[in-house]
Amino acid sequence: MSTAIVTGSARGIGRAICEKLAKDGVENIVVCDVKAEWCEETVEAVKALGANAVAMEINVAEGASIDAGVEAIIKQFGAIDICVNNAGITRDGLLMRMTEEDWDSVLDINLKGAFLMTKAVSRHMLRARKGSIVNIASVVGLMGNAGQCNYSASKGGLVALTKSAARELGARGVRVNAVAPGFIKSKMTDVLTEDVKNRMLSAIPMGKFGEVEDVANAVAFLASDAAAYVTGQVISVNGGMLMP
Ligand code: NAI
Repeated sequence: MSTAIVTGSARGIGRAICEKLAKDGVENIVVCDVKAEWCEETVEAVKALGANAVAMEINVAEGASIDAGVEAIIKQFGAIDICVNNAGITRDGLLMRMTEEDWDSVLDINLKGAFLMTKAVSRHMLRARKGSIVNIASVVGLMGNAGQCNYSASKGGLVALTKSAARELGARGVRVNAVAPGFIKSKMTDVLTEDVKNRMLSAIPMGKFGEVEDVANAVAFLASDAAAYVTGQVISVNGGMLMP
């Protein structure tokens, strides 16, 4: 019996990750987002694939919300085997115009949220001496991006968090890795202008944007026993946009 939690999985990449984990045989999938009712479509999609799915309200910006959610999952399923820190937001703007609130909200959700969730789940994973945590970073956390000082800092921080946690938890069977997507078609990127999209496209050797399933496939690999000896790594899923 295996149980996975995917934050921010009401839609987009998070939903695709839930579906892929279900297809790969993970039995229990906890779909969570800021509002439980937002999770219903993902829950239905997962159930249609034959897995058990539950919707849960977890706001990753709030430690109490994370702790309550994790305790409820342990009570219901007894363990958490896979945790995907996927919830993320953007508040783009040039450095000179970026407000303190724009900075704090992005760092709170994208980076502190992953820290708090990692802390909450790893307690149980360490006791079980197994677990896989996958953080959804970004290509811009590796290369920077004008207009995204807050977002790129949060994702660069997430890469560093991934490596430090992997070093701390590895000896007790808990693996921590990251996936760094490039430009993926989703609600987050729908809002960009055609001009920005065309500029991004010209920097991608494969000449196209990625699909949410491309990210989900990499996450599922890292979450699975096929990656049993992989920890502290960042897998880029970016069509060749950056080759570190
Ligand atoms: P999305 O905007 O479609 O989905 C993000 C989800 O996170 C939403 O369901 C939202 O409600 C949830 N969320 C926001 N704040 C939250 C909070 N405080 N607590 C819990 N959930 C919260 O975006 P998308 O594209 O699916 O992104 C998923 C992840 O992938 C994000 O971390 C994003 O930064 C990352 N990513 C996306 C890329 C893209 O091109 N779409 C590229 C690189 C990284």
